[in-house]
Amino acid sequence: MKQSSKDMHQQAYERMKEYKQTVASDPYRLHYHVMPPVGLLNDPNGFVYYKNQYHLFYQWNPFAAEHGAKFWGHYISDDLVHWKVAPIALAPDEWYDKNGCYSGSAVVHEDKMYVFYTGNVKDTDGNRESYQCLAISEDGIHFEKKGPVIHVPDGYTAHFRDPKVFCENNHWYMVLGAQTEAETGEAVMYTSLDLENWSFQGTLAGSGHHGLGDFGYMWECPDLFSLDGKDILLVCPQGLDPEGFKYQNVFQSGYFAGKFDDDSGAFQHGEFVELDRGFDFYAPQTTEDAKGRRLLFGWMGNAEEDGATQPTVKHEWIHAMTLPRELEWKDGRLLQHPVEELRKLREDEVKHEDVVVVGQDVKLEGVAGNVFELELKVKEWNAAWLNLQIGDSRIQYDQSSETFTFERRSFSEERSLESRHCVLKELTSVRIFKDTSSVEIFINGGKEVFSSRVFDGADANEVAFSADRDGKVVLDVRKWNVKRVTDY
Ligand code: FRU
Repeated sequence: MKQSSKDMHQQAYERMKEYKQTVASDPYRLHYHVMPPVGLLNDPNGFVYYKNQYHLFYQWNPFAAEHGAKFWGHYISDDLVHWKVAPIALAPDEWYDKNGCYSGSAVVHEDKMYVFYTGNVKDTDGNRESYQCLAISEDGIHFEKKGPVIHVPDGYTAHFRDPKVFCENNHWYMVLGAQTEAETGEAVMYTSLDLENWSFQGTLAGSGHHGLGDFGYMWECPDLFSLDGKDILLVCPQGLDPEGFKYQNVFQSGYFAGKFDDDSGAFQHGEFVELDRGFDFYAPQTTEDAKGRRLLFGWMGNAEEDGATQPTVKHEWIHAMTLPRELEWKDGRLLQHPVEELRKLREDEVKHEDVVVVGQDVKLEGVAGNVFELELKVKEWNAAWLNLQIGDSRIQYDQSSETFTFERRSFSEERSLESRHCVLKELTSVRIFKDTSSVEIFINGGKEVFSSRVFDGADANEVAFSADRDGKVVLDVRKWNVKRVTDY
């Protein structure tokens, strides 16, 4: 029997209430990142600026700190940094989405918010069906489901999901993540004049297209937009093998930059570049706001890190969003900057100029803690390597091998060390956002970013610099505490 939508919403609210204390008492609860009020959060969805406010929806299982039939949870903000819990937007309560209102996007048309999402359905034998569905809201709070608008076309499997809709020259476009019957990953394109009737245009990019060889068995969460004269396709391919420092996480997230021809539907593009080199980054989604900024949120998690491995599960919640980032296309690559509004959260500035790091551990007065923003500018570099210990994690730039490394304690019981790397020709600046259980590192003005969750010991509050004995690095260091803005 179909469960009424009211019942499902009610059950989710009750669970939120019941576990409020359990969740709030977790020392790993983040202070300035979007998290689920209870249960599991994954992809950002429906990120949109509507009636002067930012709306951020998310994949949410309110009933357990594990994957399940997803709801769309909802947050609203005036400024991208203070977020308020909004009523549940979508619950998996219809035949076409009963196993999950999966990821999707939002657009504004004639003052209404249109959200597109994937209805995930599993039959009694476990076979999957996917429907691209529409729901409409007149106030950004209450949504009326209109049901499926797209069925899986011939030639594709039911791994067909994550619609991202945008408008260009009075035409609506939708990019979707897809798997062909030959089990290759693709991003496909639909167009529409009225947001309800959609026609299939074919492959936008994928394994075997536009010079791309074998590139994964499924592509998830595509996003296509223009930025500073470039067309950028963000996408999450599944099934890439590690290659040197690249593709180290179980699934990847990155972009192709090129030129999209909206007449022919062709997308000529360059090579795939990973967006983030840390352990926890996936399924990013962007929107453009009223100031014309291209903004991005990512899921600060990854598929292999679910369940028992994370200590927050004892407190009935798991995963978080990254900080909001502004994108810029410059010198042939995508840069990511923490949004400027984050400066509002700074307090108690500590400043050290011309800090000389030679050999031993250098500790600076007032530079410690487990929630802070830290900014380093390299004024002079004359060393083989520089190390920065942050609690139980470590950052290293090794100039001699041109390698930047982030190292953390794994979530396993042995808490063994594990690391991620990227090639970096020089180090000029680093901006680090440390929260109770996360670190985001923006290197050289956002050219490389490392995002990771970290679960340090309770007294791991030290920040210490060191360089090789024969070397010398001179740094300007600024550090701020960051105000707590999460009260849910
Ligand atoms: C990516 C993803 C999407 C899907 C959603 C389900 O993390 O697998 O492809 O829509 O999560 O929660």
